[in-house]
Amino acid sequence: MNAKSHPISSSRDESNAAPAGDDPLDIEAAFRDSHVGGVLESLDRELVGLAPVKSRIRDIAALLLIDKLRRAVGLSSGPPALHMSFTGNPGTGKTTVAMRMAEILHRLGYVRKGHLVAVTRDDLVGQYIGHTAPKTREVLKRAMGGVLFIDEAYYLYRPENERDYGQEAIEMLLQVMENQRDDLVVILAGYKERMETFFRSNPGMSSRIAHHIDFPDYTPEELLAIAGLMLQQMQYRLSAPADQALREYIERRRAQPHFANARSIRNALDRARLRQASRLFERKGGSISRQDLETIDELDIRASRVFGERLAT
Ligand SMILES: Nc1ncnc2c1ncn2[C@@H]1O[C@H](COP(=O)(O)OP(=O)(O)O)[C@@H](O)[C@H]1O
Ligand SMILES: [Mg+2]
Repeated sequence: MNAKSHPISSSRDESNAAPAGDDPLDIEAAFRDSHVGGVLESLDRELVGLAPVKSRIRDIAALLLIDKLRRAVGLSSGPPALHMSFTGNPGTGKTTVAMRMAEILHRLGYVRKGHLVAVTRDDLVGQYIGHTAPKTREVLKRAMGGVLFIDEAYYLYRPENERDYGQEAIEMLLQVMENQRDDLVVILAGYKERMETFFRSNPGMSSRIAHHIDFPDYTPEELLAIAGLMLQQMQYRLSAPADQALREYIERRRAQPHFANARSIRNALDRARLRQASRLFERKGGSISRQDLETIDELDIRASRVFGERLAT
């Protein structure tokens, strides 16, 4: 193998006579050329917390980059296994990170297009005999060249129902996950325990998943930081008393049913914006300053039901 067959080391001086096959590759240049650093940086910057998730994503990016360099010098190990499972409670960032993953896979050349197709059981499984195969086939076709994200994937498997059509979809997925793994990456997402049960009953699926990534719940401090980031992006700010109210809101909301981590924060902020708008609207007469328009006040937060209700028992 000579230097000419190293497409990745294009920036190197190829006339520089190094022994064939021992030509050092420039890993930094390869990293730069892939533009994957930008995705990793924005992942760091735009997502609060998630340290273990970020480090797993970084590891996978490193694996792909090294695999690419290995292939460039003729070291073959077959395409790396890339199907993944993302487990965690609602609102912990699974869908958001899956979209970033799709971008990384695309930039490193592991998928052609890098788009994400997000589906649930209903998109794959039909109600009647003969309806499942065409539905699943259509979804697979749309996802080819990108990432297929299956939310609450365990609903595909319903052992209590002997003739459940979900099994048909699972079998088609298994086949594509094996035979077209160079053109489609599947990410299964959902609650951790349910996913573990699903994998125990579906060893074929389990054996095709190379990376299991767990998304922890956010701490109150992280939720507050997430709120700060969201407000900044929406160009709002909290008055000092509103900031204190939000801290209390988070404490209370976390203890209540249907708490969904960052999603609950986003919803709370959306409702606070509604209240701010009505408050300003009702203040008829007089003018509204820029500061009024951008400020969420204490009452915009404290008017939430979360402050009125007793904790559910
Ligand atoms: N670590 C985080 N930092 C900032 N925003 C986040 C973070 N995790 C989630 N979000 C936001 O919370 C919302 C829900 O996240 P999502 O990825 O849909 O969660 P999941 O798929 O786990 O239910 C989205 O608006 C997302 O942008
Ligand atoms: Mg999601």
